[in-house]
Amino acid sequence: MENKQKVKNLIDLRAQAKLGGGEKRIASQHAKGKFTAHERIEILLDEGSFEELDMFVTHRCNNFGLEKEKYLGDGVITGHGTIDGRTVYVFAQDFTVFGGSLSETMALKICKVMDMAMKMGCPVIGINDSGGARIQEGVTSLAGYAEIFERNILASGVIPQISAIFGPCAGGAVYSPALTDFVLMTEQNSYMFVTGPKVVKLVTGEDISTEDLGGADVHAGKSGVSHFKVENEEEGMMLIRKLLSYLPQNNLEEAPIYDTKDPIDRLDDVLNTMIPDNPNLPYDMKNVIHAIADNGEFLEVHRNYARNIIVGFARFNGASTGIVANQPNFLAGVLDCDASRKAARFVRFCDAFNIPVLTLVDVPGFLPGSGQEYSGIIIQGAKLMFAYGEATVPKVTVTLRKSYGGAHDVMSCKQLRGDFNYAWPTAEIAVMGAAGAIEVLEGRAIAAITDPEEKAKFIAEKVGEYNQKFANPYQAASYGYIDDVIEPRNTRFRIIRAFQALQTKKVVNPLRKHCNIPL
Ligand code: HXC
Repeated sequence: MENKQKVKNLIDLRAQAKLGGGEKRIASQHAKGKFTAHERIEILLDEGSFEELDMFVTHRCNNFGLEKEKYLGDGVITGHGTIDGRTVYVFAQDFTVFGGSLSETMALKICKVMDMAMKMGCPVIGINDSGGARIQEGVTSLAGYAEIFERNILASGVIPQISAIFGPCAGGAVYSPALTDFVLMTEQNSYMFVTGPKVVKLVTGEDISTEDLGGADVHAGKSGVSHFKVENEEEGMMLIRKLLSYLPQNNLEEAPIYDTKDPIDRLDDVLNTMIPDNPNLPYDMKNVIHAIADNGEFLEVHRNYARNIIVGFARFNGASTGIVANQPNFLAGVLDCDASRKAARFVRFCDAFNIPVLTLVDVPGFLPGSGQEYSGIIIQGAKLMFAYGEATVPKVTVTLRKSYGGAHDVMSCKQLRGDFNYAWPTAEIAVMGAAGAIEVLEGRAIAAITDPEEKAKFIAEKVGEYNQKFANPYQAASYGYIDDVIEPRNTRFRIIRAFQALQTKKVVNPLRKHCNIPL
């Protein structure tokens, strides 16, 4: 064969590989409102930056006549490219080839880019759109999954791992995304479950739709499996790009600093009147976050899950910062099982990747009741305490209003190695709220008063006394548990100053194989 012909053959083969399972299946993918794997990568990465690997790989299975049906690339597109000029490794399952099902060779391709991402210290992004294990292959595909899982585990806390779910993701396949740092799902077309509706019906008799069992609403709102819910794939891709802008390439690097042009000493007078005089009235903590962060920008994680606590990324003087904040606007900002777990995971992510943590506190306590106790609020709350206590990144805490009891300790208090703990003058730092405290301390005296008017007067007096003593930040400040009481409008400047002073922080935890966080 002439060399010219060899080059032409290569060009033809590359064109063939690009077509995946063929034009008919591509049309069917488009008809469902889905992009192909190639299109997804093009949208995700910087223009023209993608370098594909292993496009000539085909499966090696001879069962069920599969030897007669081979597609170049074998159902997954892998390679590397850049996002905002920084290298990332990617894999995107191609539903047009055997429904994106995972074969032995597909697993090898995915493992190869994961290994390269680890070696180079770069994030890995997986786009999932797959019918699960390639049924014709049997156990080799199961082994392939396990190879991927093991790599997800070893990469955890070393390089950021992001999973986009743009189609089916069912059975054991769900565990790779679950092992990664962030999962995002599209409102239409994406679902995740361990067992599908048909098996659910067979085993338990429950009649449930795919959407209700494992759609984006379920996992972004109820289970917390998905950190983000997006309207469509393009929005998902843009979100991944934005998310990466807050992250370092790996655990040995810092997140990039951006010139946000927002003056560090920008005052916001609104903050001085943000807290209502009535302590039982809510306000929106997001307004505080928007007021203090660079240009008001905040990338919220887990927006629809456990809304009584807010977590996400912002910048202060251009530096990426993780924010954890109680949300008085939802369940009064109480700490429950879901909120504790959500925040714990986020704090641990930030700590693993050298992202400082800002904690904004307004918490009435842990949610009481049998429901919470049976769900293990003790263990769940301990997770958050553990996460804060073990974190060695710079930690700045600002208490805006309530900070009661165990929840005070958990929310990055001084003794959990909070570096700078500030309070607004509206802060109330105490063992418990006044009403509950008086009930305990004066219960007998209250019971002895028969006249209702007198009883109410007595309680009001005692509550007043208690509030006078404890509903302020000054008792905590007098012990040095609060480093300073700050004017609310000056919060941004004080936070930035604090993080600047903590830039050289070096704390090393005791040597051990690994900690034993209460899981
Ligand atoms: C091989 C598969 C496949 C699979 C789909 N296909 N899933 N081929 N192995 N697992 C093929 C189909 O034969 C079809 O081929 C093409 O992909 C598209 O599939 P359709 O069914 O036409 O598409 P759609 O109607 O959109 O339905 C998608 C689907 C469905 C819901 C994912 O295909 C499905 O239920 N697939 C099986 C899912 C499953 O049970 N997987 C195994 C789970 S167990 P043609 O040639 O017609 O285009 C598992 C264990 C993992 O994954 C354990 C890890 C630890």
